[in-house]
Amino acid sequence: MIELKQLTKIYGSKKKATTALSELNLTVNKGEIFGVIGHSGAGKSTLIRCINLLERPTRGEVWVGGVDLTKLNKRELQQHRRKIGMIFQHFNLLSSATVYDNVAFPLTLTGTPKARIQSKVNELLALVGLEEHRDKHPAQLSGGQKQRVGIARALASDPDVLLCDEATSALDPQTTDSILKLLLDINRKFNLTILLITHEMHVIQSICDRVAVIHEGGIVEEGPVTEVFLKPQHFVTREFINRDATGAAGEEGLKFAAPVPHPEWSKLVKITFLGAKTYESVLSQVVRETEVNFAILQGTISTIKDVPYGKLTVSFEGDDEKVERTLTLLRERDLDVEVIG
Ligand SMILES: Nc1ncnc2c1ncn2[C@@H]1O[C@H](COP(=O)(O)OP(=O)(O)OP(=O)(O)O)[C@@H](O)[C@H]1O
Ligand SMILES: [Mg+2]
Repeated sequence: MIELKQLTKIYGSKKKATTALSELNLTVNKGEIFGVIGHSGAGKSTLIRCINLLERPTRGEVWVGGVDLTKLNKRELQQHRRKIGMIFQHFNLLSSATVYDNVAFPLTLTGTPKARIQSKVNELLALVGLEEHRDKHPAQLSGGQKQRVGIARALASDPDVLLCDEATSALDPQTTDSILKLLLDINRKFNLTILLITHEMHVIQSICDRVAVIHEGGIVEEGPVTEVFLKPQHFVTREFINRDATGAAGEEGLKFAAPVPHPEWSKLVKITFLGAKTYESVLSQVVRETEVNFAILQGTISTIKDVPYGKLTVSFEGDDEKVERTLTLLRERDLDVEVIG
């Protein structure tokens, strides 16, 4: 659906040039929710603004729905842009217009007949749960309600793609979750492709199918969220995951926590469960067979989108052979087992 090829954006020129994106490649498939995460200044906004050409790339190609937007003339570009909706961190609503008129705005611009506008706007206000607020002005709405107006407005021209630039960063955690849930509903209902950028791993973990990590203008890691989340490769990815993990410091966290009292003869192991296995009694079945003792030092259960996963840090005590056999059996049961000490 979206394909970025060798995308490069350099702001300014000569001495004052800043390279915001450098030869970046990225593919977003139809119908998926794709997240891009990165620190401040990594190039996230530049990336998303290059997709609808709000920002002209210095070099590279921007393919959306089979068309390279960089090759279009002004009129053709205008037409294709209608198929790309966008929502913003600070909502960008018209403060002097009502909720209704804000949502109707893109349709009014294209000269849509009044009756058609009316039915479309009513439908969208119902979708985002704002029917009762139709005559209010943005100043009379909460942040979450404003973003709902933003979403309804973005959907008015029946886009194929929705771009979200830090759409929940100005909202409290509870409101964030309700907006994320709305985005997920819309994605499922209309098979709408969503590309969102964020600096919060929680956003990625809640609704994204795949994720890319952007650092210094390039993608340093990407893949299904379950994979990237459970086996992060790049140090930036690890930072995000360790910072955001709800109470679950990874093995990095362990180093900073109080020293874990594990005797020298024991083996410290991190076990990761994914999917239904999270709730099975694999560990106790295995240790009963191999006759080793274990102590759970740290553990969490959480979900990635709707897939449950668990992480346990366990110390095994017993003779080497038995402990090795335990690890083998756990791996044979498809658990991810990593010896960390
Ligand atoms: N209009 C501009 N003119 C010059 N430099 C710019 C401009 N916009 C962005 N930059 C620079 O490009 C780089 C990437 O900026 P960008 O806004 O894309 O980062 P970001 O990942 O969105 O950051 P944040 O999380 O803070 O929003 C930064 O070094 C920034 O200073
Ligand atoms: Mg930004």
